[in-house]
Amino acid sequence: MTIREYTPQDETGWVRCRLISFLDCSYYDDVMRQKETYQNPSVCAVAEENGKIVGLLDAEYELETGAVCHFPGGKGAVIWHLGVLPEYRKIGTASKLWEFVRQKLLALGITRVEVWTQDDEPANRWYQKQGFVLKESYLNAYVRGTSKDNSAIQKYVNLQNIGDIFGVRCLNFEAPLERKAELAPLCYRLYEVRGYEMQL
Ligand SMILES: CC(C)(COP(=O)(O)OP(=O)(O)OC[C@H]1O[C@@H](n2cnc3c(N)ncnc32)[C@H](O)[C@@H]1OP(=O)(O)O)[C@@H](O)C(=O)NCCC(=O)NCCS
Repeated sequence: MTIREYTPQDETGWVRCRLISFLDCSYYDDVMRQKETYQNPSVCAVAEENGKIVGLLDAEYELETGAVCHFPGGKGAVIWHLGVLPEYRKIGTASKLWEFVRQKLLALGITRVEVWTQDDEPANRWYQKQGFVLKESYLNAYVRGTSKDNSAIQKYVNLQNIGDIFGVRCLNFEAPLERKAELAPLCYRLYEVRGYEMQL
């Protein structure tokens, strides 16, 4: 397996790898049809075997403090995408990608990296194993029910000014962690989004 920088020729393989990698985690419906591009510079690495992209890690970094990171501090970076195809997991693929990116960020003078991930155990364990520290959490809530007569929809959406509609297909919002017990019975999907940070 080769760990190297992403090149534009990798785009189709990158999109496919991300799609399959995310299928068995809570980001399964976060589908991209093109590789994300960033306003700030980035370090994007891929793991390749026999011409196939089997893992990916993208980090966007700051030229000026505060341009990318949510948490305050020195010049930082944010990991936006990390995924490894199921058959290439638990053999150090993500760790090799991270070591490659970490060295590049260090050489660029980046002092810290943050990431936001949901409550999937493999991802949380992986970040903790690398030394990322949990700093902040919030909820990503999807309220159940598609009819506008649904009491939950009526409770949370002001339907007065929306005009004639047949229903609300999906109500997806972010909320403070403290509302977890209240929202859990109403939600068909409810995730804790966890912000981690690591000093390089
Ligand atoms: C998270 C992910 C990138 C890890 O990739 P990987 O190549 O398997 O990770 P590595 O082999 O480098 O590291 C293995 C370590 O990760 C953690 N880990 C990975 N899979 C795990 C699992 N199923 N259960 C618990 N811990 C797990 C453990 O700390 C493990 O170390 P251990 O074997 O000593 O327990 C991979 O599981 C993945 O692609 N998941 C789906 C996509 C995703 O969640 N991305 C992050 C969203 S931001």
